[in-house]
Amino acid sequence: MGPAPLSFLLSALVFSIQLSSASTLLTTAQRYLCQFPTPNPLSGCPKGTLLVDPSAGNSTKPDQQKKNNVFRTIQSAILSLPSDNSSATILILPGQYTEQLNITRPGPLTLLGQTTSPSSLSQNSVQVLWHQATGTSSTGTLDNAFTSVLTIAPTLNSSLTGSGPTGFPVPENTPFGNTDFRGYNMNFTNDYLPYSAGPSLALSTSYANTGFYYCSFKSYQDTIYVGKLGNSYMKSCEIAGQTDFLYGFGTLWIEKSDVVMRGCGGGITAWKGTNTTYTNKYGVYIHDSVVKKENSTLEIKGKCALGRPWNSLHRSIFAECKLDDSIQPNGYIQWGKTDPRVTEQTMMAEYKDFGKGWNETGRVEGGVTRVLSRQEWEPYSGPEKVFMYPGTGRSGNVGWVDWVVA
Ligand SMILES: *[C@@H]1O[C@H](CO)[C@@H](O)[C@H](O)[C@H]1NC(C)=O
Ligand SMILES: *[C@@H]1O[C@H](CO)[C@@H](O)[C@H](O)[C@H]1NC(C)=O
Ligand SMILES: *[C@@H]1O[C@H](CO)[C@@H](O)[C@H](O)[C@H]1NC(C)=O
Ligand SMILES: *[C@@H]1O[C@H](CO)[C@@H](O)[C@H](O)[C@H]1NC(C)=O
Ligand SMILES: *[C@@H]1O[C@H](CO)[C@@H](O)[C@H](O)[C@H]1NC(C)=O
Ligand SMILES: *[C@@H]1O[C@H](CO)[C@@H](O)[C@H](O)[C@H]1NC(C)=O
Ligand SMILES: *[C@@H]1O[C@H](CO)[C@@H](O)[C@H](O)[C@H]1NC(C)=O
Ligand SMILES: *[C@@H]1O[C@H](CO)[C@@H](O)[C@H](O)[C@H]1NC(C)=O
Repeated sequence: MGPAPLSFLLSALVFSIQLSSASTLLTTAQRYLCQFPTPNPLSGCPKGTLLVDPSAGNSTKPDQQKKNNVFRTIQSAILSLPSDNSSATILILPGQYTEQLNITRPGPLTLLGQTTSPSSLSQNSVQVLWHQATGTSSTGTLDNAFTSVLTIAPTLNSSLTGSGPTGFPVPENTPFGNTDFRGYNMNFTNDYLPYSAGPSLALSTSYANTGFYYCSFKSYQDTIYVGKLGNSYMKSCEIAGQTDFLYGFGTLWIEKSDVVMRGCGGGITAWKGTNTTYTNKYGVYIHDSVVKKENSTLEIKGKCALGRPWNSLHRSIFAECKLDDSIQPNGYIQWGKTDPRVTEQTMMAEYKDFGKGWNETGRVEGGVTRVLSRQEWEPYSGPEKVFMYPGTGRSGNVGWVDWVVA
């Protein structure tokens, strides 16, 4: 490579000011070099990158694997990392990995799926698969946390959903977990049953900052859980589900992605807000994305609700999204007929949505969807406005977001 252009040096400088341990975070060019298949997969990757290769010999003993930085499962690579603030990268070779991933370490971690097309979700070659649900007679009653394909949270307690309007009471002294997780070109699928059969998570993230790029998350119910103090950003991703499939307590921003309905049930979003002494922006924001049915054989025209309030402090906004005709005319709905959970504090909103699922008359008649003016949307209109530093009302916590991804 030739001398680094000035713009690169400037952005490197900005990064090192934002993050104390930025030195091993990848630029886009470095990431492409690492992700691209080469005879020695790790060539082009930063020094110290771990490799996940399911065909690595069985005869290789675990300590030998660690010495060579080669692992047969993704979780064994994750577990080999120290639980400290150091940065790490893991490159994953093509394959279907049937395992649950659980990241508790605080240090920046990047997971890369190997691919010839790092800017194409459909060319992804890595799928992480698990089959678990909960809450029904056939599944038992585990906390939702135990069903997830990928968990990013510092402790078990911080990841538990619990019950009631405020969920599991996470102990006060719980440390923050991962400060800068990045996942690229990976699919996370929980295929317990091909329909809603109790909570069945693809992602569970709490007390952590997590970014996903060209990733897919698929299940049928409760696909994505962004729990307490969770900040999650998804761009150029696909999230598929049927019932309440974006839910949680934290903050989720979805940008330029597909939100895919595999049936209707509950609503797409089911958020629980939290009363804090400061003004918070906890909620789910779906921006410049497409909301559509998975395929044309699904007969769900006018049947899917945008969301419903898991508690009355629910906040969700679909902004500048294209909605297909599966969305019901009234948009958002009450939690249930005898338990509406809609109060003045409930924010189930839209801003400049369009497409066949946008029906202004229907929204007004339904009486629960708020259609925002430009002024009302403004305080929520970008990731830098909604991602807060943990435990404060201060926004601008976006040092972990990769803005460069198209
Ligand atoms: C490798 O070990 C796993 C269990 O750890 C076993 O299921 C598999 O059959 C083994 N493969 C070979 C090629 O020996
Ligand atoms: C990681 O950094 C945080 C914030 O700077 C610090 O409080 C914590 O002690 C560090 N943790 C470790 C394991 O070094
Ligand atoms: C990953 O998900 C995308 C989007 O649904 C899909 O097009 C692609 O085929 C999937 N790849 C694998 C290996 O599952
Ligand atoms: C994740 O790993 C931590 C540390 O081993 C463990 O305490 C926790 O129970 C795991 N989380 C889940 C959801 O299994
Ligand atoms: C997790 O929460 C339970 C129930 O509140 C509590 O008994 C336990 O001590 C907590 N565990 C940790 C490690 O904080
Ligand atoms: C359409 O999507 C539904 C929901 O995921 C699935 O059950 C069905 O098999 C799909 N049909 C086709 C033709 O792909
Ligand atoms: C938040 O505060 C309001 C007003 O005091 C109260 O009605 C509501 O139950 C509280 N909600 C939660 C989830 O704590
Ligand atoms: C829009 O909503 C109104 C009120 O529910 C309904 O009468 C009308 O048919 C809807 N229009 C379309 C195109 O669905």
